[in-house]
Amino acid sequence: MNILFELSKEHPTLPQNEIFACLTAEDISYIINETNNDILNISTNTDIDLVKNIVSRLSHTFYVDELFFSCSNSIDEIKKNAKKYFIDLPGSIAIRYKNTSKNKNSQEIIKIIQEIYTRNKKVNLTDPDNEIRVFITDLKVYVGKKIIVIDRSQYEKRKVQFRPYFSPISLHPKIARALVNLSCVKKNETLLDPFCGTGGILLEAGLIGAKVIGSDIEEKMIYGSKETLDFYKLKNYQLFCSDIGDIKKHINYVDAIVTDLPYGKATTTKGEDMNKLYTRTFEVLPEILKEKKKAVIGISDKKWATKLYTHLKLMSIHEFRAHKSLTRYFIVFEKQP
Ligand SMILES: C[S@@+](CC[C@H](N)C(=O)[O-])C[C@H]1O[C@@H](n2cnc3c(N)ncnc32)[C@H](O)[C@@H]1O
Repeated sequence: MNILFELSKEHPTLPQNEIFACLTAEDISYIINETNNDILNISTNTDIDLVKNIVSRLSHTFYVDELFFSCSNSIDEIKKNAKKYFIDLPGSIAIRYKNTSKNKNSQEIIKIIQEIYTRNKKVNLTDPDNEIRVFITDLKVYVGKKIIVIDRSQYEKRKVQFRPYFSPISLHPKIARALVNLSCVKKNETLLDPFCGTGGILLEAGLIGAKVIGSDIEEKMIYGSKETLDFYKLKNYQLFCSDIGDIKKHINYVDAIVTDLPYGKATTTKGEDMNKLYTRTFEVLPEILKEKKKAVIGISDKKWATKLYTHLKLMSIHEFRAHKSLTRYFIVFEKQP
């Protein structure tokens, strides 16, 4: 089966990478057929319901479809492929389309798909049994059947200003979820954020069923995180106040670490020099992470990504321009034996 991910294009590397991480977390094997800013097209033999379950945790994808075919924008090609790959779907049909291209033929393209797929079929635009998606991009046209639409409005609703505890240091929930996904954490595995602040990362990890552990040097942040996790009725959590250097006193090994390190100004280091704090952090994190598991760490200076660490292997770097004077880098490491 070919699966098409319609990507949000909000970031050049995150949408694809969070998908790869979620599939890897569940041991789903796949082949990448094609990818660009608009789409990711993969082949897999995995059961569709399992795929549906896994991809529902994504944050930077709009739709996931079972892809029937893709071809160039030429009308002749589309006609030929639509006939060749036609599937007689049981039940009612709705055709929906998205056009991100400057293609002037879009109405004609839709008409072709409509004629083929709705012939002798009941059309139901409000609650169809099958939703055929026609995605027209500058380069190609993709036609398939919707498997799932990602509920992205949930991330806006969970922004820190709508949560019980507010601080401007919190990441947008969509970014926090993408970082959790990059960590490859599975349901019921343990994820640690040792600089948890308002608990934004813990919240996103808790909502996908991970057991979460959060700590912070500031007591008020621990109370704030507790308020937030309780507000969202999460039960499987552990919170404590601790300096990063003392974290080993509180916990054993964890399956994933996702954290956003202080970057000065808005976030306190309690007066500690940033270089010293980062050095201490990179020493202690590998000591509490299980082998072959991932740490996703937000830093403000790229030099911390390219240093050589004894037990951490650099896997990928994702750059964010928060604003003019602040660029953040989210780095994925894997714990080495
Ligand atoms: C960038 S903020 C984390 C924001 C968080 N991701 C959120 O969503 O709210 C960094 C946090 O590190 C904490 N912190 C600073 N120095 C620390 C230390 N030595 N040990 C543990 N936490 C520390 C700060 O109190 C702050 O809450």
